[in-house]
Amino acid sequence: GFAGVPAIAAAGAVGGMWATRHTAEQAAFTNRLAIPPLARSRRDRQGRRVFDLRAAAGTMQFRPGAPTETWGINGPYLGPTLRARRDETVLVNVRNDLPEETTLHWHGMHVPAVMDGGPHQIIAPGTTWSPTWTIRQQAATLWYHPHPHGRTSRHVHHGLAGMFIIDELEALALPRRYGVDDIPVIVQDKRLNDDNQLNEEIPTIGGIGVLGDLITVNGTVAPYLDVRSKRVRLRLLNASNSRFYNFGMADDRSFALVGTDGGLLAAPIDTHRVQLSPGERAEIVVCLRPGERVVLRSYRSDLGINIGDQRFAGGGDILDILELRAASELDPSPPLPATLAERPRLDVSSPAARRTFELADFKINGLAMNPGRIDVGVAKDTTEIWEVANLDQMPHNFHVHDVQFLILSIDGGPPRPESTGWKDTFYVKPGTRARIALRFADYTDPDMPYMYHCHVLWHEDHGMMGQFVVLGPGQRPGVLPMSHS
Ligand code: C2O
Ligand code: CU
Repeated sequence: GFAGVPAIAAAGAVGGMWATRHTAEQAAFTNRLAIPPLARSRRDRQGRRVFDLRAAAGTMQFRPGAPTETWGINGPYLGPTLRARRDETVLVNVRNDLPEETTLHWHGMHVPAVMDGGPHQIIAPGTTWSPTWTIRQQAATLWYHPHPHGRTSRHVHHGLAGMFIIDELEALALPRRYGVDDIPVIVQDKRLNDDNQLNEEIPTIGGIGVLGDLITVNGTVAPYLDVRSKRVRLRLLNASNSRFYNFGMADDRSFALVGTDGGLLAAPIDTHRVQLSPGERAEIVVCLRPGERVVLRSYRSDLGINIGDQRFAGGGDILDILELRAASELDPSPPLPATLAERPRLDVSSPAARRTFELADFKINGLAMNPGRIDVGVAKDTTEIWEVANLDQMPHNFHVHDVQFLILSIDGGPPRPESTGWKDTFYVKPGTRARIALRFADYTDPDMPYMYHCHVLWHEDHGMMGQFVVLGPGQRPGVLPMSHS
């Protein structure tokens, strides 16, 4: 596992639940940022890259006093970073040594439905699940986390999550030394009881779910990162249950947005804010001057709700996330390439289907998730246009398994820079409608569904989720044996 979380939060670094943290009281970045280790792998006889993961209980010292009981993968908290190349075949042995059932979902990965790790791929305590698939998508920052029916919120908040990095066949001139100038930044807020134990009891006011007052990056409280090169690449992952972040640098400098959920953008975009709802990722490259310290912060977000409600969605707080400490002499970094990836293309001129998904009242189109019901059947090798509408007063987002899609419009206008390129999750403001284009290329299975859902985990757990199957010619949706209460 990864140690290096001596984490004693500086007194005053943790504000009250709804308090805005001011610069003055958060001066101390006292802990070196933990870097999740790269998962070891080996080749089996078929040439597959094999990883071994084991979920089990552990403890962390998030703040002074009692240790916090956590869950982790190959360590007490979070999991190692899996890394593989495009076109490689991987096999992951996932052993469950937790006291209860779980699953492990490859968020953003194009995988056959039986390998997806959704609510149907249950791993009973004491057993191992071994999915295998070939990576058929571009270089990207993906992640993994459990997806057990009705309990995803608790399992993720307890610490079960990690990054899955896909590398391109040929490396680009981007910072890419893992843990040196290519840094995983897994941002989560934690809610602890007075006795320091993780608290997933809801309901919080506002119906948003777990919203914690302890901000962690890679499990480290009040973290700093020593940087030794001119450019540093941050792979931002919002792995929080419910909190929205609007990332920027404290001195408001701009940086290059180079990647979104599904991988690198066609070209870097110069920007100074990146808003990520739960589950979303963005890769940014920040330029540093020798000897300086600059803080990655979350600014107030435009969540489209009033400021009082914003607090309940985490959008009203200004939070300092991570301090970058540049060495007095910095290694040169090559300038960013002008072109990063192929421009995403989808022919949307004659979609095979148009569908509408209305998010309201913990349901989608009036129905709460039922694992025994298939909601949608899509035809293999077709492109569809989905319209997603948030009819509620509270923020939701929308995630679709199996595919990376393109956002065509949000309320008729173009998406923000961080919502361009390939996406698997995006924010849907109250009262807005977004249109996305998705292509279901292969992996048919009439009997095993993929999920689509709000990635605010409490909403997902409370029913804001549906299931779709990808059908080959002549196939009809199967009958699911499973029906949870
Ligand atoms: Cu990140 Cu269906 O999940
Ligand atoms: Cu939601």
